[in-house]
Amino acid sequence: MKVLMLRGNPRKNGVTERLADLFARGLRESGAELFDVDLASKNIGLCRGCFACSAGEKGRCVIDDDMADILDLLDEADAVVCASPIYFYAMGAQLKIFWERCFPFIRGYYYDAELGGMRNRTNFSKDGKKFVTIGAASGRIKSSFEAVTHTYQSIATALGFEYAADIRRAESPHFTSLDAKSLRVRKILDAFEIAGREFGATGKISEAVIKTAELELAESDEVFAQNAGVFWELNKNRNVAGFGFDDAKTDVRILLREMCRLLIPKEAPEKADIEFYFPDKEWRFAMRINSGKCELGELSAPSECDLRITCTAPLWADILGMRANVMEKLASGELLLEGRRRLFSSMKKYFRLPDGVR
Ligand SMILES: Cc1cc2nc3c(=O)[nH]c(=O)nc-3n(C[C@H](O)[C@H](O)[C@H](O)COP(=O)(O)O)c2cc1C
Repeated sequence: MKVLMLRGNPRKNGVTERLADLFARGLRESGAELFDVDLASKNIGLCRGCFACSAGEKGRCVIDDDMADILDLLDEADAVVCASPIYFYAMGAQLKIFWERCFPFIRGYYYDAELGGMRNRTNFSKDGKKFVTIGAASGRIKSSFEAVTHTYQSIATALGFEYAADIRRAESPHFTSLDAKSLRVRKILDAFEIAGREFGATGKISEAVIKTAELELAESDEVFAQNAGVFWELNKNRNVAGFGFDDAKTDVRILLREMCRLLIPKEAPEKADIEFYFPDKEWRFAMRINSGKCELGELSAPSECDLRITCTAPLWADILGMRANVMEKLASGELLLEGRRRLFSSMKKYFRLPDGVR
């Protein structure tokens, strides 16, 4: 199978690139012939809307740029894979410009009785191309992809493509911050490679693989909004431009919410109130475990609790990441435990650590 992969990400080393690389690796492993095109590095001008390309059977665009070669690849391809970040609820501009420049393939409309609607008449040398879209968005899956999925679907229907799969990777900053050491992120990354392999071998991608690739990282919109708030705050406080992905890896506000999420109810105590105090930040949190659930709240003053843990925020991040020696830190007084110290020593048992949070 000849596959044309179109990459629409302007940012290098971002989430789109990482996911597209994995999908491409899977494609190659399957034996597919891959034409991997980075649209952002090409010279592709805007469609001028002149309709010159609709002259004759095989029209040619009047613009002399890199698009001519890519149109030839598209014409010959059995499948098209688009990978793009989501920018303003749509595909990125590079990819949109690409589709506009595909106008030489359009030869008007016809009524498709089976579809009960209109399709474009096309002049592809090879019809019935399979179509896969991969998107990376920082927002939640539903709101971020609603419009773009609809657009891709319309393109596929109009051009007679078989829309094999739409893989939507939402929550991209959270996704990056947890890094490949998180089990969930590892599973997600693997799913992109498997998806490429399956698609190259069968022209399809199984529901289960798509589901894994799209796994939600925050368990609710509320938790997502809290974590997103941290990213934006970190970014605002940076003096160097760039999103605060790396800082977020060690931000205790995100890590504590991750801890809550990773509670193992059958191992955890029925009830326990744990307070965290980070004097370097003046942050105080209450972690409440109750009947198999764990909730995190902010405190403005010390509260009644079963255990209070006091240390600096970076030290807690190091403890969770197993980069600090707990006994040494207790002995030096950098880590202070007040209340039921046994709660602390058995914590490792009732939170799925360290795989989930590191
Ligand atoms: C101009 C711009 C517009 C964006 N619009 C959206 C959006 O509408 N919805 C969303 O969820 N994320 C949006 N994002 C976030 C990106 O989709 C997200 O950061 C993604 O990971 C970018 O891909 P990359 O990591 O390959 O650069 C936007 C980012 C930029 C720079």
